[in-house]
Amino acid sequence: MARLTEIAGLNAFWGGVFVPTMGGLHEGHLELVRKAKDLGHPVVVSVFVNPDQFNDQDDYADYPRQFEADAAQAEAAGADLVWGPSNAVIYPQGEDVATPDLPRVATHPGLEDAHRPGHFAGVLRVVQRLFDLVRPEVAVFGEKDWQQLQVVQSMVDRDGGPRIHAMPTCREAEGLARSSRNERLSPLAKQRARAVYLALQAAGAANHPSTAERVMRETLESHDLEVEYAVVRSSVGLRSVDDFSRPSRALIAAWLDGVRLIDNLPMPVWT
Ligand code: PAJ
Repeated sequence: MARLTEIAGLNAFWGGVFVPTMGGLHEGHLELVRKAKDLGHPVVVSVFVNPDQFNDQDDYADYPRQFEADAAQAEAAGADLVWGPSNAVIYPQGEDVATPDLPRVATHPGLEDAHRPGHFAGVLRVVQRLFDLVRPEVAVFGEKDWQQLQVVQSMVDRDGGPRIHAMPTCREAEGLARSSRNERLSPLAKQRARAVYLALQAAGAANHPSTAERVMRETLESHDLEVEYAVVRSSVGLRSVDDFSRPSRALIAAWLDGVRLIDNLPMPVWT
């Protein structure tokens, strides 16, 4: 087990399985690390709160920073290296860290791309930078951030890079997707937050995507959540769909007491 903060020494861990994170580790992240161990060796976990992908400076400032606790948890879950670079290591002064061209799925769906302008440029810039430095064979991402997963997959399909392994969303007992931002919710708000999962489940029982979208919105609004989007889209390209004949996904972003919740679920395919 090792911990590093600089680039020097990383080369000893090239060719392994990589789990990029922004820290504040919870069970969802740890599931990714445990899976990484099954996929190959060595397992590298990065902890870097990327300033470039936050739209809201308060959200960036409030983001948990607890490297020692994160490193201990990542190691217990099987990480061989926990790497916690500073901003200066990722974005050195005078060095131009390129932003990859954004694939269509990062600009057209009108989901995270529309509500968090600049977010995916920041994500792809840091992910490419991390891949260049860690040089993994495999990288593990969570389905919780479904559009991010599709954006990263599109980038590596186009430019090359590690094989992307996707992991299902890890949830609390009552269905709320685990997120470091859940800590900002009061116990009462956490109860109301269950509406997100309830809405996604209700969508899966609908017989038409437009019905699914209406039911999701009603469920969220009846729990006093402010809906940003509640839609059904094709799973890979996140395009509009007219029926459930191909793989599709229900996706939600909603605000609750100043906390932005996102989640998604696959819809049944009707044959
Ligand atoms: P972060 O939000 O820390 O998430 C790191 C990884 O954990 C992502 O792949 C995310 O999808 C996954 N994850 C988070 N919560 C999860 C849950 N409940 N179940 C399953 N997987 C979950 O995503 C980022 O960081 C950043 O954008 C990053 C890719 C590190 C680039 O900065």
